[in-house]
Amino acid sequence: MNPIDVVIMAAGKGTRMKSRLPKVLHRLAGRPLLAHVLDGAAALGVRSMVVVTGHGAAEVEAFCASWAAAPRDGGTPSVRTVRQEPQLGTGHAVQQAAPALPDDGVTLILNGDVPLVRADTLQRLIALGAGRRLALLTVDSGRDAGAYGRIVRAAAEDDGDVHVRAIVEARDASPDERAITEWYSGVMVAPTRLLKRHLAQLDNRNAQQEYYLTDVVRHAVVDGTQVAALRIEDEVEVAGVNSPLQLAELEREVQRRAAVRLLEAGVRLADPARFDLRGDLACGQDVEIDVGCVFEGSVTLADGVRIGPHCVIANARIEAGAVIHAFTHIDGGGQGVLVGPGALVGPYARLRPGAELGPEVHIGNFVEVKNSTLAAGAKANHLAYLGDASVGERVNYGAGSITANYDGANKHRTVIEADVHVGSNCVLVAPLTIGAGGTVGGGSTLTKSTPPGALSVARGKQTSIAGWQRPVKQKTS
Ligand code: UD1
Ligand code: MG
Repeated sequence: MNPIDVVIMAAGKGTRMKSRLPKVLHRLAGRPLLAHVLDGAAALGVRSMVVVTGHGAAEVEAFCASWAAAPRDGGTPSVRTVRQEPQLGTGHAVQQAAPALPDDGVTLILNGDVPLVRADTLQRLIALGAGRRLALLTVDSGRDAGAYGRIVRAAAEDDGDVHVRAIVEARDASPDERAITEWYSGVMVAPTRLLKRHLAQLDNRNAQQEYYLTDVVRHAVVDGTQVAALRIEDEVEVAGVNSPLQLAELEREVQRRAAVRLLEAGVRLADPARFDLRGDLACGQDVEIDVGCVFEGSVTLADGVRIGPHCVIANARIEAGAVIHAFTHIDGGGQGVLVGPGALVGPYARLRPGAELGPEVHIGNFVEVKNSTLAAGAKANHLAYLGDASVGERVNYGAGSITANYDGANKHRTVIEADVHVGSNCVLVAPLTIGAGGTVGGGSTLTKSTPPGALSVARGKQTSIAGWQRPVKQKTS
């Protein structure tokens, strides 16, 4: 087997996106298109990758650097970027990458805007190329191929797979060629030495006055190099993204497939058409997910978890039997969020990075928890804030109470020991500790720690003035 070097074309303007963001950085299922392409190539265990940048080069290059720096199973191949200035077409793009490609290898060319090609399809394509042929990934949709390049095959299909004569771009096609329903996906494999020879032969005498990569096919045929096509059935796998409409349609299809996978694994999604996964979701048995939920990053839902409608859940682990009620927002960020078994959260709750709820904890409506642990059975049921706090078992934290964890410069911790009752509308000015079993009177602003078992009240004493006369409005003449 020859070593594989990859070229990813990502310099194009993406005019039809009508966006300032480079096309390949637009997101599909929560990740830039280019991330999908890089991941797909990395999964093949290739020798190196070259990303051709141009429009928005600085942004695309920064993204490539961050992608290359991230740890991944199986390691990361070397990733280089080369600039294509100006952008004179896909053939011109690969010409810029050519000097970085060692002659002994096979080059796999990928379009930065074709995000969903599967690794096993690429393996089959590489096998078809066998280190000596051009191999093209194509699809026959059986209907008009739109703006895609048409695959022109030899009239007599007597030479098996290896009978492609040319790829004709839609804008250069004759009516007969336009009618061809088999189209080029933008993915090809070529022996590097041959590829370089044919790249040098390209010209821009065509409707778009561009150097088309697809013209290498013609030159290869003239040279007697075999050109094979791997025709696959699944259009979605090779769909290119050229417009917001295409991106949205592909997103729906990706989401539908993710939903079907979960349903087949036994997850009860209320409606697969109203489900969005932008990361990885692992589910146990008898998990129920209502409509309109969005899952991001890495999320685990253990056995029997129920997620109410319209929740956003990112980077979190929800333990068995926990219930997340409607409109709850959970974002674990880099630290993660843990919801313990049997816990009840929401509706309208917000769990932020470092929130760790023990078993049977209750977090109710309009309660925000950040970087805090709540031990088993603790409750904060209404309108409250817990930040940088350690909350003991069975604590009851009243409505409207907050930990004042930030003094304007530094953050401090609040410790609420087991079995404490904090009344409503309390301000606990950190750092302090509320001793076990203590009670804090409603409306208190505490600035000092309290002993265990005590009632602590810190507010103006109530006074009543008997027979108080309210002021009356003075008459103006
Ligand atoms: C290309 C193919 C077409 C195929 C389609 C599949 C050519 C000439 N046509 O058309 O046959 O059906 O992909 O999706 O190759 N790019 C550069 N530099 C450039 C121009 C483009 O890097 O100068 C990059 C773009 O960023 C993009 C990719 O190449 O990632 C494809 O370019 P695009 O303009 O989308 O080509 P298509 O018209 O889609
Ligand atoms: Mg395209």
